[in-house]
Order: sequence, then C-alpha cells, then structure tokens
Amino acid sequence: MTQARQPSIQVVAHRGASEDAPEHTLAAYKKAIEDGADALECDVRLTADGHLVCVHDRRVNRTSNGRGAVSALELADLATLDFGSWMETMDSEESPDWKDRSLTSVLTLERLLELIADTDRRIELAIETKHPTRWAGQVEERLLQMLARFGLDGPAPGESPVRIMSFSARSLHRIADAAPQLPTVYLMQFVSPRLRDGRLPAGARIAGPGIRIVRNQPGYVERLHKAGHRVHVWTVNEPEDVELCVSLGVEAIITNRPKQVLSQLGRL
Ligand code: G3P
Ligand code: CA
Repeated sequence: MTQARQPSIQVVAHRGASEDAPEHTLAAYKKAIEDGADALECDVRLTADGHLVCVHDRRVNRTSNGRGAVSALELADLATLDFGSWMETMDSEESPDWKDRSLTSVLTLERLLELIADTDRRIELAIETKHPTRWAGQVEERLLQMLARFGLDGPAPGESPVRIMSFSARSLHRIADAAPQLPTVYLMQFVSPRLRDGRLPAGARIAGPGIRIVRNQPGYVERLHKAGHRVHVWTVNEPEDVELCVSLGVEAIITNRPKQVLSQLGRL
C-alpha cells in the first residue's frame, strides 16, 4: 500500500529497527538510521551502580542470555551478556550486523547519544523513563546529567532533538520542573476519564496514545489537537494503522518497521 508523500509525519524507530535487529542494541539503532528514520525511541533504566542502560523489561531474561533485574545488576555484569542471540533464528541476509557481538552488547544511553552525535544528519531521540517512581527522581536526575554532558539539556535553536516520554506523570513533572525546555510526552495505554477532553497532566506537552486508543476512540486525536497538543502514536506497525494516523494528521508514528513506514509514506 502506498500513499501520498507525508513529509510532516516524523517516523520514530521503536527500540531501533526492532523488527529487523535485536531491540535496544547498536545493531537496531544503526539499522534504523540507515533505513532513514527521523528519530529513535529507547527505554532507560538504572543499573545497580547507577548507569542508564537501554532495556525495556524490568529483567534481562527475554532479551539476553542472562537472568535478573537490571536494577540488581551492575553495568559490568550486563556487559558480559549477549543481547542479540535470542534473535538468531531470524534471517540475517537483510541486516547481518545484528550477529556482530560488538553491536549486541548492553547499550548505555551514553553510547546511543554518541552514535547520534556521530551521525551526519539530524536524528531526534525519544527517551522513555521506565519505572521511574521506584527510584524517587534518580532516573530523571541521571538522565538530565547525561543530556547536559552532550549539550542537550539546554535551550536549543528550534526544538530540542531530545524529548522525554513516560507513562508516569510524576516523572514528566520532574523533568518539566528541572528542564522546562525539554519536550515531554505523556504515554497512554488508556484514557482516564479526566483526560477525555484532550487535556494532559501538568508537565506533559505532547500526547502519546497507543494505537488502540486511536483506533477505538474516534475524535480523541482531534480533541488533543484542539487542546494544543501534538500527538505521537505508538506502536504503529500495520499499513492500515499508518494510513489512519496519516488521515488524522498525527505528528509522529513510533514503529518497529521504520523502513516499511517510510516506504508507505512515499519517502523511500
Ligand atoms: O513509544 C512508546 C512505547 O514504547 C511504550 O510502550 O512498552 O513499548 O515501552 P513500551
Ligand atoms: Ca518504550
């Protein structure tokens, strides 16, 4: 299915090009950049020794050859694990890099920021804080320290290339307090009654509804737009959902398949 060119919709690679390469690895993010993604999405968690690493689940069991909670492991422990072999049954013809061990070790946020800094075109980054309440502000504090090291925490000419996303309104509130210039995205799996009119919690600027909300609640995206919010929808993998997002004029599509979505949008 092809569509008219829609250059205004940002295509965000969810956990990297995570359908073609192991999620949250350099292999997946390099592939997403090669594929032409406008932005990358990553989840961040704190290790036991206070490093921010890009891992979705609370535990490493699903995506590595190790076991245990990220929060109970030190970075040196995580560095011994292989975050790629769980995908080795996949056909590697398309993206051979994901079997390269150097590209599938644990990814720190710092390394991901270096990759983006080394890329010769603008790549935006949507960073999601995972389980931030458990850490009472430490995730946000470390995150802002890391962004400061890369010069990404201050006012940027135009909009910052980095935005912070969370299902936790409290986490976004902390970010908005400490760094009001950074865009914040409130992620939603469902719409609570007090937000049905298109409002967002204090501290949140952009709305991040799941695709099920967009499919099942006609008029909601329009209400968000009317309330002055941009809309970033996750996780949009099916062509008919891309088409729906285009028809509703959303500002960003977060997808495991950046190449296919760019192709559908007429951008490849
Ligand atoms: O981009 C938002 C999306 O990633 C939220 O869900 O579970 O994939 O982190 P999850
Ligand atoms: Ca996420």
